[in-house]
Amino acid sequence: MCGIVGAVAERNITAVLVEGLKRLEYRGYDSAGVALLNGQGQLERRRRVGKVSELQAALNDEPLAGRLGIAHTRWATHGAPSERNAHPHFSGQELAVVHNGIIENHEQLRAQLKDLGYVFSSDTDTEVIVHLLEHTLKTQPDLTAALKEAVKQLHGAYGLAVISAQQPDRLLAARSGSPLVIGLGLGENFLASDQLALRQVTDRFMYLEEGDIAEIRRDGVQIWDVDGKPVQRESVQYHEGAEAADKGEFRHFMLKEIFEQPKVVQRTLEGRLGSNQVLVQAFGPQAAELFAKVRNVQIVACGTSYHAGMVARYWLEELAGIPCQIEVASEFRYRKVVVQPDTLFISISQSGETADTLAALRNAKALSPEQGGYLASLAICNVGISSLVRESDLCLLTQAGPEIGVASTKAFTTQLVALMLLTLSLGQVRGALDKQLEAELVDELRRLPTRLDEALAMDAVVEKISELFAEKHHALFLGRGAQYPVAMEGALKLKEISYIHAEAYPAGELKHGPLALVDSDMPVVTVAPNNELLEKLKSNLQEVRARGGELIVFADQQAGMSNGEGTHVVNMPHIHDLLAPILYTLPLQLLSYYVAVLKGTDVDQPRNLAKSVTVE
Ligand code: F6R
Repeated sequence: MCGIVGAVAERNITAVLVEGLKRLEYRGYDSAGVALLNGQGQLERRRRVGKVSELQAALNDEPLAGRLGIAHTRWATHGAPSERNAHPHFSGQELAVVHNGIIENHEQLRAQLKDLGYVFSSDTDTEVIVHLLEHTLKTQPDLTAALKEAVKQLHGAYGLAVISAQQPDRLLAARSGSPLVIGLGLGENFLASDQLALRQVTDRFMYLEEGDIAEIRRDGVQIWDVDGKPVQRESVQYHEGAEAADKGEFRHFMLKEIFEQPKVVQRTLEGRLGSNQVLVQAFGPQAAELFAKVRNVQIVACGTSYHAGMVARYWLEELAGIPCQIEVASEFRYRKVVVQPDTLFISISQSGETADTLAALRNAKALSPEQGGYLASLAICNVGISSLVRESDLCLLTQAGPEIGVASTKAFTTQLVALMLLTLSLGQVRGALDKQLEAELVDELRRLPTRLDEALAMDAVVEKISELFAEKHHALFLGRGAQYPVAMEGALKLKEISYIHAEAYPAGELKHGPLALVDSDMPVVTVAPNNELLEKLKSNLQEVRARGGELIVFADQQAGMSNGEGTHVVNMPHIHDLLAPILYTLPLQLLSYYVAVLKGTDVDQPRNLAKSVTVE
């Protein structure tokens, strides 16, 4: 994913910018660049394809020095990875811009700007921004005022940093759909897409909000909100270890990671949603053309990531009308597969280093077209620099951040979000998706972090229910439709960290065998959103109650289910049925967590398990 760093200071800030880019490397990128205002008041830039170390080598050969500058790591969306497409982009010799996100109306703006005589030197959507700003400056010479006016014409998602040789006292920033944070120094200030990039220079940060425009000078920061009104944004002091490798206020990493889900889901959506549709280019420059050819999908993954793929199968067939097969990687890799024409191969992995998933990808890629090879490979992954990402044609990074707890939680929900974005993109490009439904789901996705917060607010209720499991040795998890994989994930979490034997079944299968196990020692956990399968599910639950089984039901608040003897109902916030798998995962994670705590197991490092399974 793209990264932004900027600085305005009294010292040479080249090293600060490059170090900032290095700190963002883990997000994955394909090229990097930096632009500085030199001592002669001219803008100069260096750009390189590949690693930040390549850019550093270029700077060693031809040094740049300056007190105002911007830098960027690019993840190609429009235009292949190349030096001419790398940021910063210039208009003339006096204006430079770096951009995260995607401009939806770039083609139309490009045509208008070409008619006005602007010459484009890259294939990026970003270049329209810099020329548009240059053009606005002709009638509105103040850079800040011009930026405020120019962004009104941009549709899509952006985090922008702008510098001008004409107005060398300021670094400008604009945020809409892509995060930006200002780092506050003493007599110097900074900007980045992630505070991680600036921890070397400051511990005080100010987060821009949606629609904000900021003018950052050496000695002060001024911010205007989406309505153009001057606003103050709170400055926050960062304490070392407050994030990634520290549990903070939480007793375990797993609990911390469960509670991070609203934030990381938000991050996974950032820059990928347009006004009423998903931005297909988020998958890379060739995505739209390639997606149009997809007629089948093969998903391969392990463990929790496999469960995410199982949910996606329901979505892909329902929303995009694409037949989808899914298989665990350890099986897929060792059998001869028959590939349907035009099949997209999708691997899903938190780490991107899981041996079976990698081997499956390599096998898939090794199939020649004559052997019925795959159309292309796409990785849904949490680690931008992983082998899986490097070896796949396309990728969509989940933005879960480092996951320390061995039991996967936030990686799963962000994978689901990424897979929903993929489904909507495929449906959109193939014309299979009703536009109104897409707009509705985009809206629901925007609201998802709030729904997740509401689900987490039921923490204490779930903790109380966990007591029912303290003395139990077995549990059944039931779900129907896309909730069946959610039940599987719930059962896996309980097994992994509490060592209670748990099985998941599609609720309709109960009477075909597992009902024989049900008695008062077998708690039955069920996920019950308010959908067309609810009435059928309710009769399945009657079957359990009739055998004395204790029921724990996570049900939509409109599902009309209530507590009764041996039935414990937890009312869930109402959510669009298609997004319910994401929401209903959270109480199941909490349940397994609290059961494990009661049993006194090593929650973050359960016995016999490793976080990254890089061997067979
Ligand atoms: C379960 C869990 C594992 C992983 C599996 C795949 O909580 O963490 O089942 O999901 O080992 O790992 P990745 O996603 O890294 O390929």
